[in-house]
Amino acid sequence: MKRNLLTAVCMAILLAGTALADGGADIYKAKCALCHGPDGLAGTPAGKALKAVSFKDPAVVKAKDADLIAAVTNGKNKMPAFNGKLSPADIKAAVGYIRTLAK
Ligand code: HEC
Repeated sequence: MKRNLLTAVCMAILLAGTALADGGADIYKAKCALCHGPDGLAGTPAGKALKAVSFKDPAVVKAKDADLIAAVTNGKNKMPAFNGKLSPADIKAAVGYIRTLAK
């Protein structure tokens, strides 16, 4: 009985965590759209100036999630590192959102 309660509490915490990490669109709009544009095509002045990539670019479409997560975490050329600024779950959610923009 006690064990079931514990399991239920763990499940609730897990579900709450997923719900938070689900805010990929909000994170993207707040932290990424400035350079990458609301549509992910990097057509903003900052995106053009820094030569940000379009998320429809075949290289990005083909890249593994882990590679994109690493680029966001550690930065890449003029792309700023988000390590410490966003949690790993938030970075993962933002990359998940990028995938929806590539379609
Ligand atoms: C200050 C502008 C700027 C911001 C803000 C920014 N990026 Fe970028 N991003 C870039 C630039 C420039 C590149 C191109 C880097 C390169 O390959 O030279 C890039 C590249 C990328 C790539 C492709 C990496 C690869 O492997 O080719 C991904 C994915 C990415 N950004 C995701 C994000 C996410 C997610 C956020 C928000 C959390 C974000 N970016 C915020 C400028 C920015």
